[in-house]
Amino acid sequence: MTGTPRKPLSAILLPADKSISHRGLIFGALASGTTRISGLLRAGDVQSTQRCLSQLGVGIETQGTLTLVHGKKFIPPLAPLDCGNSGTTLRLLMGILAGECFSSELIGDSSLSARPMGRIAVPLRRMGAEIYLKDENYSPVQIKGLTHGVRLKALNYALPIGSAQLKSALLFAGLQAEGTTRISGKIQSRDHTERMLKHFGAQLNYSFGEGPDPQEISICGGQRLIGADLKVPKDPSSAAYWVALSLLSSNIKVELKEILLNSFRIGFLAALKRMGAQIETEIQECSETSEPVGTLLSEPSPLQGTGIAPEEISSLIDEIPLIAVVGAFAEGTTEIRGAAELRVKESDRIEATATNLRKMGVDVETFSDGMKIYGKGKRGPKGAKLSSYGDHRIAMSFAIAGMMANGPTEIENCECVSISYPDFFETLKRIYL
Ligand code: S3P
Repeated sequence: MTGTPRKPLSAILLPADKSISHRGLIFGALASGTTRISGLLRAGDVQSTQRCLSQLGVGIETQGTLTLVHGKKFIPPLAPLDCGNSGTTLRLLMGILAGECFSSELIGDSSLSARPMGRIAVPLRRMGAEIYLKDENYSPVQIKGLTHGVRLKALNYALPIGSAQLKSALLFAGLQAEGTTRISGKIQSRDHTERMLKHFGAQLNYSFGEGPDPQEISICGGQRLIGADLKVPKDPSSAAYWVALSLLSSNIKVELKEILLNSFRIGFLAALKRMGAQIETEIQECSETSEPVGTLLSEPSPLQGTGIAPEEISSLIDEIPLIAVVGAFAEGTTEIRGAAELRVKESDRIEATATNLRKMGVDVETFSDGMKIYGKGKRGPKGAKLSSYGDHRIAMSFAIAGMMANGPTEIENCECVSISYPDFFETLKRIYL
């Protein structure tokens, strides 16, 4: 695709937030009564969560843009729960099913089966769960049902990695445990589970040290969740592609509305601003779950490389391939460190990003925990034949790179965008045709 966009990018329809959509379904399933979710994301990963919950006996109905979840006690699944490509589905369900008195098995596709699950199983075992993993780290995950009348034990645990999936799994397990579960360590990651726990009527406590950030979250087991209404804001991780397109273009301004502006999710905006990006955000409301929601504006900007520090990583973890792409078009170097987690995402995103960028004529150094991109500035990368590595975020990041590169780009296996943004290529076509 080439050409000049005829429509202003404010016409873009963004998909709903994936992290909040997963959690909306899960909370609705665990809560008593009916949960009404407006604007749930309709995409592969969220369908995986929906399918697993249906197998556990939860009634989920779609009425136009509304999804009704009828919470109930889970029934033992008759077959393995297939989490597809979705790490969030598998890891959050581990924390939930660890407290059940029936056995279950969680499986996934080849990408998910290569992602580490030991990080979730280790603390859950300390709570009394019996969990078996392939080669001690991978799915299939087998969870043995607890003996009737036995509950998980509360846990004191310092998170060794800044993963919201791990934190959420332990909060769900803690909700069912006997006593108070205390989670400390690397708790500074997306906090949608914490916000939603409160929204569904649970109590959560934070302890603070010297600074402004909480050092520990504690949750008292045995609390009941109550069904609630929920509106899902638009996904900032999906908005990021259009922001990048606008910054790198000569004439595209974007105005995106109703976007989730949770600070744990928009670290990429701060990184892009350091590069010289003209971006503005305005928080307009707090959603029902106390998530900040607002408008995002961006426009073409000359860009300089930047450094992405380890402390920033969890606030922009899913946008790193895109930041690397933007870095390839900037002047100077962009160095990303402290991001070893990228090696165990839907693909090894360090290798996938570096290989594709090199094919586009960009020099890239890789490290175990990151990469350094030597930006080509005004000369720009060249078009090339690339792979998505079956990873939605790689496919979309390099679609943006391809649109801006010199010469045509072809990317194999792009159907994987259906995981988070099924209309991505349709939207791109509508912008350019
Ligand atoms: C997610 C957390 C992040 C993120 C993933 C979604 C979530 O993973 O990369 O796309 O919804 O909790 P980690 O928690 O493993 O960093």
